[in-house]
This record gives sequence, C-alpha cells and structure tokens, in this order.
Amino acid sequence: MIFDRNEKKEVIALLGAGSMGTAIVRRIAAGKKILLGDISEKNLERVSHDFQYSGYDAETMVVNALEKGSVEAFAEKAAALGDVMYFIDTAGASPNQAKPEHILALDMVGTGYAVDAFGKVMAKGGAGLIISSQTGYMFPIPNEIELEILNTPTEKLMDLPFIRETAMQGSGIAYMIAKRVNHLQAQKAAATTWKERRARINTISPGVIVTPLAYDEFAAAGEGYQKMVDSSAAERCGTSDEIAEAGAFLLGEHAGFITGTDLLIDGGVIASIRTGVYKLQG
Ligand SMILES: NC(=O)c1ccc[n+]([C@@H]2O[C@H](COP(=O)([O-])OP(=O)(O)OC[C@H]3O[C@@H](n4cnc5c(N)ncnc54)[C@H](O)[C@@H]3O)[C@@H](O)[C@H]2O)c1
Repeated sequence: MIFDRNEKKEVIALLGAGSMGTAIVRRIAAGKKILLGDISEKNLERVSHDFQYSGYDAETMVVNALEKGSVEAFAEKAAALGDVMYFIDTAGASPNQAKPEHILALDMVGTGYAVDAFGKVMAKGGAGLIISSQTGYMFPIPNEIELEILNTPTEKLMDLPFIRETAMQGSGIAYMIAKRVNHLQAQKAAATTWKERRARINTISPGVIVTPLAYDEFAAAGEGYQKMVDSSAAERCGTSDEIAEAGAFLLGEHAGFITGTDLLIDGGVIASIRTGVYKLQG
C-alpha cells in the first residue's frame, strides 16, 4: 500500500505529544512529515498508531525535554527529515502534578532548550508555537526583572535570584512564572535567533482546557477552579480543538505578520480576574 508518493515533505516537529499538541498537529499535517517527541514511549505508540490510521505520516522519538542534549538531538532529527517548517512545544507539567523545581525545569528551562535548539534548524518561512497558559497573566513580574530574564541564557535562568527566591515558593507560583517566562522566550527568539532564520514564533496561553492535565488540576483544586471557570464570560472550560484552531492560524501563512506575541484563549477568565469579578485565591 502506498498512500502518498511524495518524498520531499515539510516537517512538523511536536515536543509533547499530548492532547493539545496532537490536536494542533492534526489541523496542519496533511501531506507533511510529522516527528513526534515525548518522554512517554507508551504515549508515542498510541498517538503514532492513531495518526497512521488517520492518513498521517508520523515518526516518533523518545525525548526528555528536561535534557538539553535530548532536545538538541530531537531538533537535529527533525532537520534530517527535511525542511522544518513547524515546531510546536506542549511538553509541560501543571502545579498539582509536580514540585516547583520540576515545573521550572520543564515548563521554563525545557521550553528554553527547545526554543534554542529549533532556533538553529527552522527553515525560512517556518513557524513555532509554544503552549504557555493563562496563568502567565496571573502573577505580574516587575519590568526590570523581565528585562533580566530576557538577557539571561536558558542555562542560567534557574540561578536568577527572582527564580530561586520567589518562583521556588510553591508549585502554583512556579507555574505562573514559568508560563510568563514562555512569553518572554518567544519574544526574545522572535527578535534574535528565529528572526535570523526568517522564522516566526508565538505563544498561546490557554485557559482551562479539558485534558488529562486539567482532570488532575480539578481533582486537586476543584472548588476554586470551578468558581474561576463559572465566573468567566464563557462559563465553561475549553477544548483542545479550540486551541488547535487558533494554533493552526498562528502557524499558517495568514499569520505571516505575527511573531513574538501571545494569544490568550481563556473564555474570559483573565478579564474577570482583572476586573475583580473573580478574586484569585491564595
Ligand atoms: N490542560 C489545560 O487546562 C492547560 C491549560 C493551560 C496550559 N496548559 C499547558 O499546555 C501544555 C500541554 O498540556 P495538555 O493539557 O495537552 O497536557 P498533556 O498531559 O496531554 O500533554 C503534555 C505532554 O507532555 C509530555 N511530557 C511531560 N514531561 C515531558 C518531558 N520531560 N519530556 C517530553 N515530554 C514530556 C507528556 O508525556 C504529555 O504527552 C502544557 O505545557 C500545559 O502546562 C494546559
């Protein structure tokens, strides 16, 4: 059986083959080559089987986003497959899944490794997307500290006094800070390494999206979470497909003038917090 005779295909690399990542990839993957990277071999097997039987051409690689060398090998493998036109990073852990050290190492430093590594291999006209979070809007970082973060290499982020003293206080605060840092990482790359390759990079900050990760959050912080969602304009959680719709737009040619920015997709949660309609607890 030969379903597709094309040999030279554009490459899509997905780091973190979870709910949102795979939904985004399915929107853009017809006729392209997909490289799926995840720490979980079981997850990779399941997703690549689904993709294969839905007409997509996918390869897998076990990648640990916590390890710079592993992420670099992933980027190199993507480049060996063809022109890397799309990179999507959704590898992350949420506050109730991990300790602050792990959240910062994965959601902040790991994302930095990926942005750096793909900043060396993206093809001209390519686009990247980092999945941040609405929580990136919940704990404003003073401007001078943001400038310090922007000027700090990925390997040194954990050494910053603000990260060591403030972000390490708890998993919730670590997550908020890591997700804000994702916005800064995209800004920095858009203006420097990715710009030099004529590639764009943006973030999406989703609100509560019903995925296994959101089940974990609801199980641990149910009542506050429920009130936050109920107070929002949408009065509901979101779906991975709604994130995928916006992701496909940001990765596509109609978004050619959009780089270094964040798109908040939260059903109005941050609007209700900023206007005092909902008071954030803790
Ligand atoms: N679901 C939500 O409500 C929500 C809201 C806002 C932001 N987010 C963020 O969106 C991203 C994706 O979340 P999701 O809901 O699709 O979750 P998910 O659990 O379905 O996907 C995350 C994937 O990352 C992988 N992963 C974890 N650690 C890894 C590592 N060290 N190396 C490589 N891969 C690793 C997991 O195996 C999983 O496949 C995360 O960064 C999360 O913080 C989620």
